[in-house]
Amino acid sequence: MIKVQFAARLERWETYAAPLRSAFAEAGLDVDLRIDHAPDTVDYVIYAPNSGLTDFTPYSACKAVLSLWAGVEQIVSNQTLIMPLCRMVDPGLTAGMVEWVTGHVLRYHLGFDRSIAMQDRWEPHVPPLAMERPVTVLGLGALGQACAKTLTQLGFPVTGWSRSSKVIDGITCRHGDDGLAQALSAAEIVVLLLPDTQATENTLNAKTLAQLPKGAHIINPGRGPLIDDTALIAALDSGHIAHATLDVFRIEPLPADHPYWAHPNVTVTPHIAAETRAITSAPVIAENIRRGETNEPYLHLVDRNLGY
Ligand SMILES: NC(=O)c1ccc[n+]([C@@H]2O[C@H](COP(=O)([O-])OP(=O)(O)OC[C@H]3O[C@@H](n4cnc5c(N)ncnc54)[C@H](OP(=O)(O)O)[C@@H]3O)[C@@H](O)[C@H]2O)c1
Repeated sequence: MIKVQFAARLERWETYAAPLRSAFAEAGLDVDLRIDHAPDTVDYVIYAPNSGLTDFTPYSACKAVLSLWAGVEQIVSNQTLIMPLCRMVDPGLTAGMVEWVTGHVLRYHLGFDRSIAMQDRWEPHVPPLAMERPVTVLGLGALGQACAKTLTQLGFPVTGWSRSSKVIDGITCRHGDDGLAQALSAAEIVVLLLPDTQATENTLNAKTLAQLPKGAHIINPGRGPLIDDTALIAALDSGHIAHATLDVFRIEPLPADHPYWAHPNVTVTPHIAAETRAITSAPVIAENIRRGETNEPYLHLVDRNLGY
């Protein structure tokens, strides 16, 4: 019997227990799933950073920690976590992010705010077509690539930027420092889907914001530290950046006195861009446990040196 500990918030247990048990049965795994195993008997930990679990030392027999979250910045450098760590790539999470990003890109592209604000005037405003609106996606991983592909299908010319070089049909791919300048110079809308690592901190700063064309829009569902907040507020105040939609912040919930709340050209959303869904993530967890039991390579293994 494989012992699996569910370490997430208690309300999550109610949502996840049944889908996980069905996924384990579907995968032919004999699993004892609980929230209260004796730590030294546990084979796998299903983990969310807000569970309160920070010391993995008692999980001495644990073969892998399986994160329910895509972003692993809160756990990746935990010195007590010496076993493999897998992040979440879940079709539901991906679909949710694609919908959220596409919705916010279309809000900017079609000028929905202008139409809503002009309810008392007949002032026709014809937006350009998607093919005339370049979009850049920073990060071409599971989420960035899915968003970039959908935006391409809608007709937007999409440029993507990643750490390593890539060739993706229909997307202009850039990488490295020079690649970032090229990716930003053409972008009317920028979507940030990078992980939060030492290398990605302040990817958008005074220098890189200045590389964007005047009037560019920013959408950040990635992580707060990707943007230098002071530099962004200065770029918004000067009008160089037209508007920013921010879902993630250095401190969450965003403090009540943070200037983003009151800024007329900032939309704040409360870290809701994409959620891991029990029904779609349970089979991913089950597959990784099956792999662990048969000594096959884990899916979505985190590279501890790179931090994602
Ligand atoms: N707001 C929300 O609700 C929400 C929900 C889920 C996830 N997220 C965030 O979205 C992030 C991305 O998720 P994902 O699943 O797409 O991650 P992923 O598959 O690990 O992809 C990360 C991408 O970022 C690129 N990258 C990493 N470091 C870089 C650097 N220094 N310079 C340039 N590119 C770099 C990677 O390049 P390579 O391809 O070359 O490795 C990769 O393309 C997560 O880390 C999380 O923070 C937010």
